[in-house]
Amino acid sequence: MQYYENIVKKRNSCRGFSTKKVPDEVIADVRAYYDNDESVLVEGIRTELKFYGSDIHELLKQHVGYNGICIKAPGYFVLYSDKAGHFLENAGYIAQGITLKMTEHGLALCWMTINDAAAVKKALGEDNGMEVACVVAFGYRDPKNDEKKAPKLTIDELCLGKDYRTDIDVSHFDHELEDSLRAAAHSQSFLNLQPYRLLVDNNNVCLVGLPSEMTNEYDTYLNYGIVMFNFYAVMWSLRPSAPRWSFDPPETDLRLPEDVKYVAKIRF
Ligand SMILES: Cc1cc2nc3c(=O)[nH]c(=O)nc-3n(C[C@H](O)[C@H](O)[C@H](O)COP(=O)(O)O)c2cc1C
Repeated sequence: MQYYENIVKKRNSCRGFSTKKVPDEVIADVRAYYDNDESVLVEGIRTELKFYGSDIHELLKQHVGYNGICIKAPGYFVLYSDKAGHFLENAGYIAQGITLKMTEHGLALCWMTINDAAAVKKALGEDNGMEVACVVAFGYRDPKNDEKKAPKLTIDELCLGKDYRTDIDVSHFDHELEDSLRAAAHSQSFLNLQPYRLLVDNNNVCLVGLPSEMTNEYDTYLNYGIVMFNFYAVMWSLRPSAPRWSFDPPETDLRLPEDVKYVAKIRF
């Protein structure tokens, strides 16, 4: 409950930062989290986390941000990844862990849409053989910034029952499941579209993706990684050992419409 209430629920995107510098100790603590404690979705995919200062805004502004706007911030983190199966979901999952770790430190953040990953990498002069998978602006929120919380799906809107044509049955929910679903429902997504649903059947949850013409391929998979992390992180905060998401096929027929795609499942 604490992790959901204090971290996941409190987070909302920031598009107006103060110029206050983020202390080196905070960056060091976030790096230590990434190096030692970070949970991954797919084992064996090499990633690299890099922090940059406000000076890269000029380099990034042509290539990241929707509506042609790259948010100005005192810092940015970029997560690089090897290209492998599910690397974007994995990167979204890892970067969401970093986002929430930074939220714990009182920082505000905003994910940035990558319009041209190769151009971002070239502009940053990186030659590590990996893809630019996530770009996130961070810093302290400007006290004059009164950005409102984005409305989120409720559990009833996000969740369905054992298949896509069955309504959710909340009668067997325990508080751990309920908090984890609430955390999933609170996930950030490109344009706040939340183009996915969770099918909840006793101890199984399946994530399925809805069609979304506005969401590009990168953001589609990053969105999935984010929602999977939020669910996992809250479950993990409430249980000594939390289960992991798997991309294995579902065990039952989810009766999905043709344009709805199965993504992953978790059993707890
Ligand atoms: C993959 C992804 C890409 C995003 N790209 C941008 C962006 O380019 N510009 C922006 O202002 N916000 C961007 N956002 C932030 C979303 O608009 C924001 O998360 C959403 O509106 C929900 O608001 P919240 O984060 O306050 O919950 C992005 C979010 C995600 C997850």
